Amino acid sequence: MKQKITKAVFPVAGLGSRFLPATKATAKEMLPVVDKPLIQYAVEEAVAAGITDMVFITGRHKRAIEDHFDKAYELEATLEAAGKNDLLRIVQEVVPKHVNCIYIRQAEPLGLGHAVLCAKPVVQDEPFAVLLADDLIDGEPPIVRQMVEVFRRHQCSILGVQDVPHEHTGQYGIVSSTNLEKDIERVLGIVEKPKPDVAPSTLAVVGRYILTPRIFHHLENVQPGAGGEIQLTDGIAALMLEEQLLAYRFNGIRYDCGSKLGYLQAQVAFALKHEELRAGFSEYLKTVVRC
Ligand code: G1P
Repeated sequence: MKQKITKAVFPVAGLGSRFLPATKATAKEMLPVVDKPLIQYAVEEAVAAGITDMVFITGRHKRAIEDHFDKAYELEATLEAAGKNDLLRIVQEVVPKHVNCIYIRQAEPLGLGHAVLCAKPVVQDEPFAVLLADDLIDGEPPIVRQMVEVFRRHQCSILGVQDVPHEHTGQYGIVSSTNLEKDIERVLGIVEKPKPDVAPSTLAVVGRYILTPRIFHHLENVQPGAGGEIQLTDGIAALMLEEQLLAYRFNGIRYDCGSKLGYLQAQVAFALKHEELRAGFSEYLKTVVRC
């Protein structure tokens, strides 16, 4: 029987140190791009893929994420009393009614692999998606939906990948692969953050994964890797020795919102797509670029 993806895991326990002091008291995933926090874009992407259970792996200082996806009684009552119905709808529709939000605390920052392992009690024996909210990807259809379609056909783990500049391999999980079909590679190896001179390719894993539940077994057994952390990449490398692993060159534009430059690029791109802002903002940009 073909399996379906109904659960998505969002590791959101990171410190967000690259955005200090903005992230001193709030989560980096709550940083907005135009008018929506990064985590909401990721949840909307999962919803668009038919996923109904959102599992957030949180840490200290991440309350704002729980509050964001919860009912806001006072705010809603105030907006309702003021007759601000458009705003009321925006607040009420942050997450659709059929979607469940589940929160698990990762007590210690032991790495991305450990964060994913924390989802095991909820995900149990099902394939699932992982989304890293600071990789904001603009695609149509949304990227996880594209990957769920690949999963439907191949029923195995899939990594979202794109080519990166050679000098950037040290920031990513990098795969070696052979082509299987258009946009799909069979992964032969994967290594976390290799320096450019030893990188097997420039094909980088960006923050979208579909994983079979067997990954939990491997995450329970891998030793701390790069940076002394339990790396998801190392778990995936072990999984690959047992099961087919594919890499999917997604169709979309990725903004690395974990970096200030990528975050600013996302702001510009999304502002230029925003109905209310497009005209005024592009006029403004012309004056800035002239200088
Ligand atoms: C993580 C993963 C890495 C992946 C990257 C994508 O690294 O460990 O394999 O390529 O996300 O954004 P991080 O950016 O958390 O250091």
